[in-house]
Amino acid sequence: MRTALVPTMGALHNGHLRLVEMGLRTADRVVTTIFVNPQQFAPGEDLDAYPRTEKSDVEKLRAAGVHLIFAPPLLEMYQEGFCTSVSTAGPAKAGLEDKSRPHFFEGVTTVVAKLFIAAGCDYAMFGEKDFQQLKVVTKMARDLSIPTSVIGVPTVRADDGLALASRNAYLSEEQRSIAPMLHQTLQHLATDIRNGKNMTRACSAAKKTLKQNGFKTDYVEIRVAETLEPVKSVPEAELRILAAAWLGKTRLIDNIAV
Ligand code: PAF
Repeated sequence: MRTALVPTMGALHNGHLRLVEMGLRTADRVVTTIFVNPQQFAPGEDLDAYPRTEKSDVEKLRAAGVHLIFAPPLLEMYQEGFCTSVSTAGPAKAGLEDKSRPHFFEGVTTVVAKLFIAAGCDYAMFGEKDFQQLKVVTKMARDLSIPTSVIGVPTVRADDGLALASRNAYLSEEQRSIAPMLHQTLQHLATDIRNGKNMTRACSAAKKTLKQNGFKTDYVEIRVAETLEPVKSVPEAELRILAAAWLGKTRLIDNIAV
């Protein structure tokens, strides 16, 4: 019997439910975890404010057909004296999310390694929305010989193109109306690159558009999709555009294929 793991931090939306759906298509049994992992939040980040909706999450997962829900208390994941961490380089040090959130991937790989080992599933479903995370956990599982195949699932978007994310709940009505501009800007950028525009100039133009629309851009980068390394020559392997930008106090991330 094949099993699939869907790790989450709760606050479930249709993006998570798509992971469950893909898990059910890939395997005979699906295990979902709900755990807001403190190790991937830096002091001053939104750990306390992170939306916690466990009751409705469990209802959604039951309705979606999940076979097992694992929602451990903090001490079950990190017992007193816990002092081990899984640290990775490669895609985890690509200079994207790791640049503004240097603590983040070590927290993610530590908890994901624990969940992979505890669940012992054949597959684990991860959203492409967190593209760097997808690459990091894929590499981590391979490097540590954890026999779980990581499967990337395409981003689920609202009708206006905004990538679904639990943190979208922080957006005001006005910010929510502006937020789809991030995806639109990346789409224009992808078209520019396909049409042979200079990448540096096209990225600068994208940043300018975001700024004009009220975003504070963290990064807009074009990378080799597989490794997340900078693009040295064109045409190269498959490329991916990745971006992070603030709208007020909410940090949005998105990415698309070129
Ligand atoms: O993507 C997330 O929700 C989290 O980073 C994960 C993979 C559940 C680890 O805490």
